[in-house]
Amino acid sequence: MIVCLTTIRTYINRGKGTRHEACAKDEKIKNKKMNILITGGNGQLGNEMRKISTRSVSDSYFFTDVTELDITKSDDIRQMMKEKQISVVVNCAAYTNVDKAEDNEELADLLNHKAAENLAVACKEQDALLIHISTDYVFGGLKNTPISENEPVNPLAVYGKTKLDGEKAVINSGCRYLIFRTAWLYSSFGNNFVKTMLKLTREKDKLSVVFDQVGSPTYAGDLASVIFKAIEERLYNQHQGIYHFTDEGVCSWYDFTVEIAELSGQKCDVQPCHSNEFPSKVKRPSFSVLDKTKVKKDFGVIIPHWKVSLKKCIKEITGK
Ligand SMILES: NC(=O)c1ccc[n+]([C@@H]2O[C@H](COP(=O)([O-])OP(=O)(O)OC[C@H]3O[C@@H](n4cnc5c(N)ncnc54)[C@H](OP(=O)(O)O)[C@@H]3O)[C@@H](O)[C@H]2O)c1
Repeated sequence: MIVCLTTIRTYINRGKGTRHEACAKDEKIKNKKMNILITGGNGQLGNEMRKISTRSVSDSYFFTDVTELDITKSDDIRQMMKEKQISVVVNCAAYTNVDKAEDNEELADLLNHKAAENLAVACKEQDALLIHISTDYVFGGLKNTPISENEPVNPLAVYGKTKLDGEKAVINSGCRYLIFRTAWLYSSFGNNFVKTMLKLTREKDKLSVVFDQVGSPTYAGDLASVIFKAIEERLYNQHQGIYHFTDEGVCSWYDFTVEIAELSGQKCDVQPCHSNEFPSKVKRPSFSVLDKTKVKKDFGVIIPHWKVSLKKCIKEITGK
């Protein structure tokens, strides 16, 4: 006999109706075709969502970037959501340039905070779910053990502050939401650390990279997978709130670079150095390791080690 454990849990929580009725209802929710709106569809995560969405059994995905839907314009969001009868919005759009955010606070706030609020308010009005992405930069990075979702936030710079304000706006809107905080994101799309280091280790004989900032590199395809699973299996019906998601394992930017050079067969001499050797306006967290216990438990995901995903991504980029 096959027993649906999720259904039994839901049935027990509901405390009424038969197990068969609960199972039938859950199946009905799962089988209902949905329209999903992706914003920022030309970015790293947006493109990974584009790839994985082709696997959907019944849902239709609508991909937009700033030319099709500027998320700073709330009326346009409302109109598109109504027209396309959107049930879930995945917000992959953001102001992601951490250094430039220091001099462009207004624009960073507009995109990371106010635009997130626009989406959340529209989702609340139209009873849609908002899947929003946030960052390890909401934390101050002074701990030395993995950071869980409910630990105190303390952003050190403009980017993290605007992303935190975005989180708060989503939560305060009263919409149904999932917020995934991630870190050190890369993919074969767009510009990122992996692509920069592939180029630098190819062009230079010697390179110094900071070893006093540690975190978990995250392949955007892995983050897209958990978002897709949450939508496809309607897991958000049982689980909402803030979740931490990165790839498994921990390293410094120096270790990350050594692995990139090795995997791409470059002979570059990579040496560790301190952050203060590269003066920057932005104060970055020195410890950015997120605790993923909650996402693994609630969404039943097996997360790859960062080295495994890095190998996969470098193969996509270089063809080797
Ligand atoms: N990258 C990281 O290391 C990292 C780390 C932690 C968390 N995150 C978070 O993860 C999420 C995805 O990041 P990502 O690296 O995939 O971002 P990304 O590659 O920078 O993509 C963001 C996309 O949003 C678009 N966009 C800009 N303004 C817009 C507007 N007004 N309306 C609609 N779209 C607009 C951008 O278009 P243009 O390129 O034309 O501006 C771009 O295509 C973000 O929330 C980010 O904060 C990223």
